[in-house]
Amino acid sequence: MTHTAHEGVVDALPASVRDDFPIFATRSGPYLDNAATTHKPRVVLDAVIDYYTTANSNVGRAYHELGRLSTDVYEEARASVQEALGARHPEEVVFTAGTTDAVNTVADGIGRRLLGPGRAVLVSGMEHNSNLLPWRRLAEETGARLLVAPVDARGRVDVVAFTALLGPEVRLVAISHVSNVLGTVNPVAELIDAAHRHGALVLVDGAQAVPHRAVDVRALDADFYCFSAHKVYGPMGTGVLYGKRELLDELRPPRVGGGTVKGVHAARPVRHVPVPARLEAGTPNVAGAVGLAAALRYLDGLGREAVRAHDEHLVRYAVRRLSERPGVRVIGAPEDEPSGIVSFVVEGVHPYDVGGHLDARGIAVRCGVHCASTFLDDLGLLGTVRASFAVYNTESDVDAVVEALDTVRPDFWTTDHPTTRFL
Ligand SMILES: Cc1ncc(COP(=O)(O)O)c(C=O)c1O
Repeated sequence: MTHTAHEGVVDALPASVRDDFPIFATRSGPYLDNAATTHKPRVVLDAVIDYYTTANSNVGRAYHELGRLSTDVYEEARASVQEALGARHPEEVVFTAGTTDAVNTVADGIGRRLLGPGRAVLVSGMEHNSNLLPWRRLAEETGARLLVAPVDARGRVDVVAFTALLGPEVRLVAISHVSNVLGTVNPVAELIDAAHRHGALVLVDGAQAVPHRAVDVRALDADFYCFSAHKVYGPMGTGVLYGKRELLDELRPPRVGGGTVKGVHAARPVRHVPVPARLEAGTPNVAGAVGLAAALRYLDGLGREAVRAHDEHLVRYAVRRLSERPGVRVIGAPEDEPSGIVSFVVEGVHPYDVGGHLDARGIAVRCGVHCASTFLDDLGLLGTVRASFAVYNTESDVDAVVEALDTVRPDFWTTDHPTTRFL
């Protein structure tokens, strides 16, 4: 085991974890874009192949052995997610295509009923477009107001300002658990409690939380909680919408079709099956769900606490190393409660020039506005460079970034397109 260490702090995960990920056999450069998507360990890839090799069949509708087997593994995957989130019932776990799909499902499914003129939905100023645009459109279409809670100087939703915005008008709140831009952790339990005291339902976007920390939806008392499998070592195209059973029951299905009804007769009203099937019209992504369950087992095997400690260790190390460098500024205070993301800017150099410089040295980071341009506007920034960590990263990946910054210079973007931004 080669645990890396700085200042006597030993990384909670061995560097050999990297060997669990086949992609590193051919791609050796530091991959620090894990908040966008993580690589997949062999056990996840094997679980997906194994599903198609030994069980492939449609679920919930086939009257034969493979159909039953496929349904069983799909429902086992649901139970794994239920356990990981601490949900009360497996039916409270709906498989979606991802976080974006889950948020849209709630916005369309319940938002249209709760919102209208004289009503409001409250989001925070740090939201990813996927947890902003569905609410913004809903507000525009229903005549409701979209309220935005400010973010404080350390990069967390300001609890006092948030609470001051609550009132009888606010029926829904949508907030992220962890900022995908800064890696800062919101006091979601406090925010949920305040919203509930004012009679609002709360959806939490956990896309950046689930990869780095144990989440207990019941302890949080979240009404809805969403995340994406591909950011937590699982396959793309799969995600989760957790919802309290009685609230899911009230959701208007985002799509109707096969698998959602008890029987359709030309002259009689359609009778729907109960959740979760009612909300999963059509053939679901069974292999995706199976892969997600394998990813959750993989994390359990590493030890959730070890994963959290590892991510925390790398964030603290990165903040310290980056802050030592003249001209480099870490944004927000990710070290307060590290959660796998550090965002920084280099004085006088466009973030895309920094990203391009690192890319030329085989280092993958994200640069730009991280699908949250309104937040970047509030921060007064053109964009940032974001390093985000996973179980296979080590201090040497951070060292590679810091060393590469020695030679970064203003280039094409800084000189030719100093104010351009996208992504
Ligand atoms: C906080 C947050 N919410 C939502 C999303 C959207 O996730 P997906 O593209 O998997 O639907 C992301 C992706 O970056 C995110 O970071």
